[in-house]
Amino acid sequence: ASYRPLKGRHVLVTAGPTWEAIDPVRYIANRSSGKQGFAIAAAAAALGAKVTLVAGPVSLRTPEGVTRVDVESAEDMAKAVKRALPADAAVMVAAVADWRPKEYRGEKIKKRGSAPPALMLTENPDILTNLAAGKDRPELVIGFAAETDDVLANAKQKRKRKAADWIVANDVSGDVMGGDDNLVHIVSESGVETLDQMPKRDVAMALAERIAATLKAEAAE
Ligand code: C5P
Repeated sequence: ASYRPLKGRHVLVTAGPTWEAIDPVRYIANRSSGKQGFAIAAAAAALGAKVTLVAGPVSLRTPEGVTRVDVESAEDMAKAVKRALPADAAVMVAAVADWRPKEYRGEKIKKRGSAPPALMLTENPDILTNLAAGKDRPELVIGFAAETDDVLANAKQKRKRKAADWIVANDVSGDVMGGDDNLVHIVSESGVETLDQMPKRDVAMALAERIAATLKAEAAE
């Protein structure tokens, strides 16, 4: 018999960047590769969960046993997350763009030799915060925090501000973004657990195992 501690559970994962369109040919994006989120989806599926992976634009293969929903913008990602509920655990790994262009131009903005156009931005919805505060709140809500400085202090604040159960903090001052290794700290109400630096797939499995253990413990209460 195989080891399937997440059997019967629905795990929702967001991954990748978002693209915020300026006009039909231009967009604002970020350097997220989606690798860590895809690895978490794969690990949860390997442990027996039903997994919905809401993915921004990335060039990665869908992990085995995972239902993938492709989206482009933060607003689309927010809708896809809502549609995927209910879930037992949500792992929000996507690097959602903080801002999008205030207006989308339906036609390509022309150059015309005049001054460059000004880009006005507006704030995107915070998918994690809305999920953690919403009526269909998963039992376990996990956010990620990519930080370059004061990693732990920022992660602790973020956990409270976003009402997440855990924040997985990673130090991206090095070459973590797009790389194959990750070094993470799991910040929860009970403290901080720092994992060794290891491949993203091992980080993913360590997290999936902790998710399984926590859901099991809560079910037993
Ligand atoms: O505040 P910051 O963007 O650093 O928070 C990161 C966490 O919040 C990640 O889990 C990310 O997926 C989530 N987030 C979100 N929607 C946003 C911004 C961030 O879900 N608009």
